[in-house]
Amino acid sequence: MESRRTISELFDGASRDLGRVLCIITGASRGYGRTLALQVSALVQPGSALVLVARSEERLRELQAEIQDSGAGAGAAGVAGLAVCCVGADLSKQEGLAHTVRMAKEAGRLDVDHLLLINNAVTPQPCLLAFPRRQGLWRTVVNLSSLCAHTHTHTHTHTQAFPSWVLYCTGKAARNMMFRVLRAEEEPDVKVLNYSPGPLDTDMQTQARCSSGDLELRDSLCSMFLQGQLLSCGESSAKLMRLLLEDDYPSGAQVDYYEL
Ligand SMILES: NC(=O)c1ccc[n+]([C@@H]2O[C@H](COP(=O)([O-])OP(=O)(O)OC[C@H]3O[C@@H](n4cnc5c(N)ncnc54)[C@H](OP(=O)(O)O)[C@@H]3O)[C@@H](O)[C@H]2O)c1
Repeated sequence: MESRRTISELFDGASRDLGRVLCIITGASRGYGRTLALQVSALVQPGSALVLVARSEERLRELQAEIQDSGAGAGAAGVAGLAVCCVGADLSKQEGLAHTVRMAKEAGRLDVDHLLLINNAVTPQPCLLAFPRRQGLWRTVVNLSSLCAHTHTHTHTHTQAFPSWVLYCTGKAARNMMFRVLRAEEEPDVKVLNYSPGPLDTDMQTQARCSSGDLELRDSLCSMFLQGQLLSCGESSAKLMRLLLEDDYPSGAQVDYYEL
């Protein structure tokens, strides 16, 4: 509910919305993806569909119920008329990916005008291929990035290496390049946004704080936690929603929470 308060505070009385959207969110069962799902659901037109993907289908069902319960009293933009589809799938496996694409196609039968693919956990690129260019369909792909893939300062952009997180850092940097290529290939038909959400108070942070192999990194994450420097998913996601609603970033933009 905290995430809903944040979004309604930010967009109180605004008539803007994300359109009649088919939105696919990977990693929606907890953490940031869960909050994104709640916030997106409050910003869509009737006739939209939300496809929630994660391994834990049970948690997705709980989220589905929460979204549907919060629909009472929703206005033109909101959960009224929103179909929520839960996809229990392991996206690191081919069959999980194929199942996700099938379910997304099923949900995408609705006459939507916006495909919004949020690559929060894993990148199900075939979902984009399943919805090729057509007149009247606006397509947006959001890549959840990280400091290890890009950091902006006033003077330059660089990347930050986290000791003992080699696979994560390498994966994020590679994914950033993948999205740069996607932007170059699909311009102007697909709009690409890379968003670094900042340090979030989620399971991932707990894991990094408690079990990173590098002790210095662990100490620094612990002190960020103890000093209250972690962000809530709601505040970070609200900034991402604002970016999507305003839609005035150039395709391929790399935006950090702290820049907004
Ligand atoms: N937390 C931070 O401080 C931070 C900072 C910068 C960037 N980010 C980025 O923000 C995004 C969200 O992070 P988070 O902190 O919310 O992570 P998290 O708490 O670890 O949640 C990860 C989500 O991904 C799902 N997931 C994991 N592996 C999966 C798989 N193989 N197939 C399908 N779903 C899978 C998990 O659900 P199941 O277990 O049910 O599958 C869960 O819903 C990530 O891209 C992360 O790199 C996070």
